[in-house]
Amino acid sequence: MSPSFPQTPARHGVAVPRRWRREVERILITDAQIARRIRTLARAIARDFAGRELVVVSLLNGTVMFLADLIRNLSLPLRLDFIGVSSYGAGTESGELVFTKELRLSVRGRDVLLVDDILDTGKTLSRVRARLRALRPRRIRICVLLNKAARRVEPVAADYVGFEIPDEFVVGYGLDFAERYRNLPFVGVLYPHVYQQGCRRARPARPRAARARRRA
Ligand code: PRP
Repeated sequence: MSPSFPQTPARHGVAVPRRWRREVERILITDAQIARRIRTLARAIARDFAGRELVVVSLLNGTVMFLADLIRNLSLPLRLDFIGVSSYGAGTESGELVFTKELRLSVRGRDVLLVDDILDTGKTLSRVRARLRALRPRRIRICVLLNKAARRVEPVAADYVGFEIPDEFVVGYGLDFAERYRNLPFVGVLYPHVYQQGCRRARPARPRAARARRRA
């Protein structure tokens, strides 16, 4: 179902903008690559859901940029809702999921497209999918911008994947470290010194710090 995608983004040698050079080691996926890939994903989704009205369920907060670009390329009737979910935990691998916003639209008997920015251990999407299944939708399909397969713990796979990425600490295009870097227009790799020790500009707030280490 997923349109073909590169195993890893091509090396393209685009320089990190001067403003971010001390924190971002390199650009992994450029804004142009993201835009192109999203158009392809949207075409595949539109084909698969032709004739149906979608309920797009997006996970806050990291998905915001991806979601906005994806749905403006989707020429399907759709309704949009959000689930707020965050991982809080003190250890590097154990993160308790906390739901901060519940779904408001009914998905019973509906076609649901669950959208997230990154599929990492799979803990988030497997929990969210279980909650959605209990609401008896007609079908649930999962769409993620990034898939970090090397870190998977839960058996969850996405139906639509933007990019397969290596096990590196990525930020930008919605993804954060300590709530920062979400506004970068590209996906970049953070220097280890930023997330290992923290720095003045990116001091980890407590729950986010644990989350960030887990993603590294
Ligand atoms: C991030 C991301 C995914 C999840 C993936 O969310 O947005 O939802 O982690 O990780 P997993 O596959 O290991 O569960 P996070 O809890 O950091 O919140 P955010 O979206 O606000 O950044």
